[in-house]
Amino acid sequence: MPDIESLLKETRRFKPDPAFAREANWNKKTVAEHRKQADKNPEKYWAARAKENITWFTPWKKVLDWKPPFAKWFVGGKLNVSYNCLDRHLEEDGGARRNKAAIIWEGEPGDTRVITYAELHREVCKFANVLKTQGIKKGDRVVLYMPMIPELAIAMLACTRIGAPHSIVFGGFSADALRDRIDDVGAKTVITADGGFRKGAGFPLKQAVDDALKMTKAVDTVIVVERTKQDVKMKKGRDLWWHDLMKDASPKCAAAKLDSEHPLFILYTSGSTGKPKGILHTTGGYLTHVTTTFKAIFDIKDSDVYWCTADIGWITGHSYVVYGPLAAGATTMMYEGVPVHPGPDRWWELIEKWGVNIFYTAPTAIRTFIRLGDEHPNKHDLSSLRLLGSVGEPINPEAWMWYHKVIGKKNCPIVDTWWQTETGGIMITSLPGVVTTKPGSATLPFPGIDPEIYDEEGNVAKPPGGGLLVLRKPWPGMLRGIWGDNKRFKEQYWSRFEDTYFCGDGAHRDKDGYFWIMGRIDDVMNISGHRIGTMEVESALVSHKGVAEAAVVGRPDDITGTAIVAFVSPRGGTKATDAFKKTLIGHVSKEIGAIARPAEIRFTDALPKTRSGKIMRRLLRDIASGVESTGDTSTLEDFSVLASLRGDED
Ligand code: WTA
Repeated sequence: MPDIESLLKETRRFKPDPAFAREANWNKKTVAEHRKQADKNPEKYWAARAKENITWFTPWKKVLDWKPPFAKWFVGGKLNVSYNCLDRHLEEDGGARRNKAAIIWEGEPGDTRVITYAELHREVCKFANVLKTQGIKKGDRVVLYMPMIPELAIAMLACTRIGAPHSIVFGGFSADALRDRIDDVGAKTVITADGGFRKGAGFPLKQAVDDALKMTKAVDTVIVVERTKQDVKMKKGRDLWWHDLMKDASPKCAAAKLDSEHPLFILYTSGSTGKPKGILHTTGGYLTHVTTTFKAIFDIKDSDVYWCTADIGWITGHSYVVYGPLAAGATTMMYEGVPVHPGPDRWWELIEKWGVNIFYTAPTAIRTFIRLGDEHPNKHDLSSLRLLGSVGEPINPEAWMWYHKVIGKKNCPIVDTWWQTETGGIMITSLPGVVTTKPGSATLPFPGIDPEIYDEEGNVAKPPGGGLLVLRKPWPGMLRGIWGDNKRFKEQYWSRFEDTYFCGDGAHRDKDGYFWIMGRIDDVMNISGHRIGTMEVESALVSHKGVAEAAVVGRPDDITGTAIVAFVSPRGGTKATDAFKKTLIGHVSKEIGAIARPAEIRFTDALPKTRSGKIMRRLLRDIASGVESTGDTSTLEDFSVLASLRGDED
């Protein structure tokens, strides 16, 4: 089996701006020192970070207990996540953060709330007392099915305060998906809202909870936040209003002293096949990982307004909207609605209005905005921005360049951060002010993280070379298992190579040792014996000025083994003609070589995506091969896309 080849020839380099570097939390010297320590003794390195960034009630006895594939970090240590996110900011530095904004929130209709650390602390304590009154005890699982409103963060922190692990189900999931997760995690309590705002209208949540609970007996309490004021039916003896319960709740609630390995949350992530996996994260290691990475990678200062656009229902929202930022005492912004409501410039308006300094989003959003046109960001003053981040998918070099120029005005370092639900926190990323960036590369491992690229036999693919991305050493934020399924945990992540975590992604490393993530290994095509990542062909297509977005899949071919099929959405103003197809095929040949020429191009207005913005290539593969899809489509954002793609076929 040959290496995964990299055909992409990206030669642009962006050196850190000296002015930025001078002020950066971590400079060249710090990073060199960190890397040295971490290489020499990773456990000692992480122990120093745990001491520096986290407040412990009781120190640990042992840094790491590693019985592959099961890790325990900071064994014997006791702490509380909500204490670290709240109480200590009220006490430290003479209470300097008491009245600092913890959360800046804007609803889709334009209503706003700014919640200080002192106020957030009060609300969290009150809700923790509500949970206790409802009989929730340490270890009980609580499902949260809510819109992007402050009550979601409050509920999470209240759960952590009393040691009740939460499991957040993204508000876009159906009643069926919700029921599966409630059953799998064994929750007795669900916290929800009447609904949330999306595209200018209220979408129902409580209704979906009612439907889900018709199919399961487990839940005895449902707490409902009033958000949209739409009609809901409250079931007597089961359903309670948040505001009624909060009215008389005491604002005093001591934070439980929890074991470092106490379960913090379970978050379901869909595998490409089979039922969703409940990824388990625990307390001390996770908090150390997300807090350390957050401070260093986003270069957070006390005066910054930080905005990560992810929904809290995804891991990015858990780690870098709520836990990382609040543990670091930062101001984190939350926005409830869709990016383009009421107009295509809503996000840029928000950045201008709130003076956002640090902005973290996903390539899929960036490509959507490229398509909508530069005039929308250009209408707004984005000069408050000083650092940009990307997460969730490989970012194509052209999208990177657009982000750099049109949003960053060539003034902001870009951190392209690679990680997964399973890793808990960021693993491969550039460090601003320190690492020279290359558009499309996530660059280098974070200190203390040990990624490697293996070939099929488990030999190291020496740079330059491509293969399977693995992690050789345990890290603090790593998943501790799949909820209730150790067998699947071992098979899924630890069976390919001994005692080594296989993440499912393919990657390439260049001669400078930079990592280029090529996406899920299932997305690698074998064309006449060459293994080529779909992402590189997509990047070549998107680098043509007439293309807004592209998704590439392989379909079986008698001659070449696999033939490339490209689904392309043209930019506004470009006509979807046969001549344009020819132009694009020629363009790909020129950019990356004739071996990667698409055998077929299909034009489409939209691509099938998950609700977190990932292209569902599995569905496209089925369409390209002319077979009926059978796999799970519960995460698909917009079903009409599939119908229109199928309709295009003849
Ligand atoms: C992909 C999101 C390239 C990758 C945090 C990974 C990326 C999967 C990047 C995890 C990146 C995430 N560059 N690919 N910067 N970040 N991915 O669990 O395929 O929703 O395995 O976690 O997203 O997705 P998840």
